[in-house]
Amino acid sequence: MDLKTTEWSKLDFSYRYVPYRFHAHWKDGAWDEGILTTENKISIDEGATCLHYGQQIFEGMKAQRARDGRILLFRPRENAKRFRESARRLLMAEVPEELFMKGIVEAVKANIDYVPPYGTGASLYIRPFQIGIGENLGVRAAYEYLFVVFVTPVGPYFKAGFKPISLKVESFYDRAASHGIGQAKAGGNYSASLFPLKKAKDEGFNEVVYLDPKEHKYFEETGASNVFFVFKNGSLATPKSDSILYSITRRSLVDVARLDFGLNMEERPVGLDEIDNFAEVGACGTAAVVTPVGWLTYLGKKYSFYADGKEPGPITTKLYKQLIALQVADIPDKRGWLEEIK
Ligand code: PLP
Ligand code: COI
Repeated sequence: MDLKTTEWSKLDFSYRYVPYRFHAHWKDGAWDEGILTTENKISIDEGATCLHYGQQIFEGMKAQRARDGRILLFRPRENAKRFRESARRLLMAEVPEELFMKGIVEAVKANIDYVPPYGTGASLYIRPFQIGIGENLGVRAAYEYLFVVFVTPVGPYFKAGFKPISLKVESFYDRAASHGIGQAKAGGNYSASLFPLKKAKDEGFNEVVYLDPKEHKYFEETGASNVFFVFKNGSLATPKSDSILYSITRRSLVDVARLDFGLNMEERPVGLDEIDNFAEVGACGTAAVVTPVGWLTYLGKKYSFYADGKEPGPITTKLYKQLIALQVADIPDKRGWLEEIK
């Protein structure tokens, strides 16, 4: 990408080559110290477990500039922890927190010119991932692993930015199995979502929200974010389930809702039978930030929320603004959620 002609506020959520990425290898029981490379292609064995048996995990994070130009990460050690938990579930070598943080910091610093300016709505998206590599054929865990951190400047995940989106409530396909790998940030969960997502997009929806794989009675999450609901009585809830991702954004919003706004936000199963009580619905995640959901369609019936789905609701807007303000240090970081890259 050409930095001289880049219009930061017009970036979409797509891959752009930047000069450096961080690579570390695990072999014979240990990680090497890792290295920065300009090579964005990877050469691996044709029998690698990531290619056949889905031994692949990833994370999603952002580096953002504060008003004073500092570069900030939001709760990166939570990503490091979830990455290790995902690795454990897929029987992969765990990346220690120090190596994870080193990869993030080095990849961001090496590409510092690509961290978008404050106030543009753009950020430097960070994509750590890990794959099982090395010669293999049978179903087993790999004997070698590659840990990569690449970064790329992005704009909003949903093109229109902070505008209501439509969700199809998926009544047939599941994203993850009960007791499966839904809690891990593993590629397999996303491949399972591609077909239902394509179908939903062809039908005119922006995204899919899945139901619990056991009974199809409770909301789970979308293909790329958690969700939350604001009820007509002013309370909030966000689904609790062991087949969804333990979203860092969602957990932050629960804290913000409770402590900054005195709102009661519960983490509990939220049933389809509660749909008529929703005043607002939102999607939340690193890429999605907080995205208002204008309406849900379940079995062909449309349920619209605030302003008939035409505008973001007041609580969703409040949560969105507070989250952004916290992430770029526009308000004091009393919780110690920010880490500066120096
Ligand atoms: N759920 C899914 C399926 C996701 O891909 C993401 C994105 O990371 C999230 C939820 C949100 O998680 P976080 O807030 O930690 O980014
Ligand atoms: C993220 O929010 O970081 C994600 O990983 C979601 C998506 C782009 C897969």
